[in-house]
Amino acid sequence: MGEFIASRVAFQPGEVFALSRVVLGVSGGIAAYKAADLLRKLVEAGHDVTVVPTAAALKFVGAATWAALSHHPVSAQVWDAAEDVPHVRLGREAELVVVAPATADLLARAAHGLADDLLTNTLLTARCPVLFVPAMHTEMWEHAATVENVATLRRRGSIVLEPATGRLTGADTGKGRLPEPAEIAQLAELLLRRPDALPADLTGQHVVISAGGTREPLDPVRFLGNSSSGKQGYALATVAAARGARVTLVAANVELPDPANTEVVRVVTTAELRDAVHKAAQDADVVVMAAAVADFRPTTPAGHKIKKSGAGPAPITLAENADVLAELVAARRPGQLLVGFAAETGDASGSVLEHGRAKLARKGCDLLVVNAVGEGRAFGQADNAAVILGCDGTERTVEFGPKALLAASVWDAVATTSHRQK
Ligand code: CTP
Repeated sequence: MGEFIASRVAFQPGEVFALSRVVLGVSGGIAAYKAADLLRKLVEAGHDVTVVPTAAALKFVGAATWAALSHHPVSAQVWDAAEDVPHVRLGREAELVVVAPATADLLARAAHGLADDLLTNTLLTARCPVLFVPAMHTEMWEHAATVENVATLRRRGSIVLEPATGRLTGADTGKGRLPEPAEIAQLAELLLRRPDALPADLTGQHVVISAGGTREPLDPVRFLGNSSSGKQGYALATVAAARGARVTLVAANVELPDPANTEVVRVVTTAELRDAVHKAAQDADVVVMAAAVADFRPTTPAGHKIKKSGAGPAPITLAENADVLAELVAARRPGQLLVGFAAETGDASGSVLEHGRAKLARKGCDLLVVNAVGEGRAFGQADNAAVILGCDGTERTVEFGPKALLAASVWDAVATTSHRQK
């Protein structure tokens, strides 16, 4: 990992993005079919992806699929195109190796440094970040041999994700599923931009994240709400889980798949979000309030659909909601770290940052992530830029980039802030 040199430049809106060389290793599990979707996402993101399947993977998905989607020839063994020395070239040139799915057998061979096919040779020659995404039956994942192999790979600097929990190949359910391809692609993109973005520094910590936007009913079919998509909160959850945290995600009206290894609590209104966050915060080390929480609610929502009366619209009277972050600050347990988000637009009374600094002081949290919104920025977009303000006066600027990149910087700030408190 230390020898990896990032060849990328900061991504600004409208800038042409450098192509990255990615090796996608696929080993022989049923989840190999999902790797075709992952490949497609990586290629569509503009990366030059070479697929290196194992012989067993080719029993699940044929070479023609990998070749067609990657636009590269595909081989599982070292003897094809030997004049090109692919078993050395592929690893050396790669900026990232992703192995998805990584079976128990592949993890064992990688942990022991075997080199009996093109993928294991590539793993030995790669000096870039390596992301293993295991998928197998629960028994295989929990077997002492696999546990030790995973520990060995992690100790050597590889990133080995925990499998997701859910339906497995047969009628059984348990830990062992491949996370969603979109989530793997998000983490791959993050590692290409920041090879050091996924340390295991949140291991043993419980983090609570609120995401999305609350809705306050006017009647059974209408509500007052906002356009928060939940993408930033979900990216925070994905990155926290990959950094080893136990994650509770309180999701207000978010239409995104559940991130792997997170407990998702769905809420609609601010009152529901408030209950869910306070409950989860009881034993939390960190609470991040990324949700756009409605400050007001209609005082008395109608029990039936409001009809046009012919006399013009009836005024809506509003009541103020609780400030959940302020309540968390008031009730915080010792050592608990509280992070707020502020989506701001500048106005006559101050700039985006000036409003942010005032809000950090007013709210009393440890960190405030300030981003500029309006004119299509932040809400609903895949990319974001922000400044992370610390209560000690620190200021961390995060350049425009994927929301996972901002998420990684938030967790970095959490790590240094909690270290300072200890
Ligand atoms: N927040 C909260 N409860 C609320 C409103 C906001 O917990 N009722 C949290 C948000 O999740 C966010 C932070 O407080 O982390 C700042 O939200 P924002 O809406 O910017 O703060 P407000 O205090 O409502 O400030 P403003 O007057 O600018 O709307």
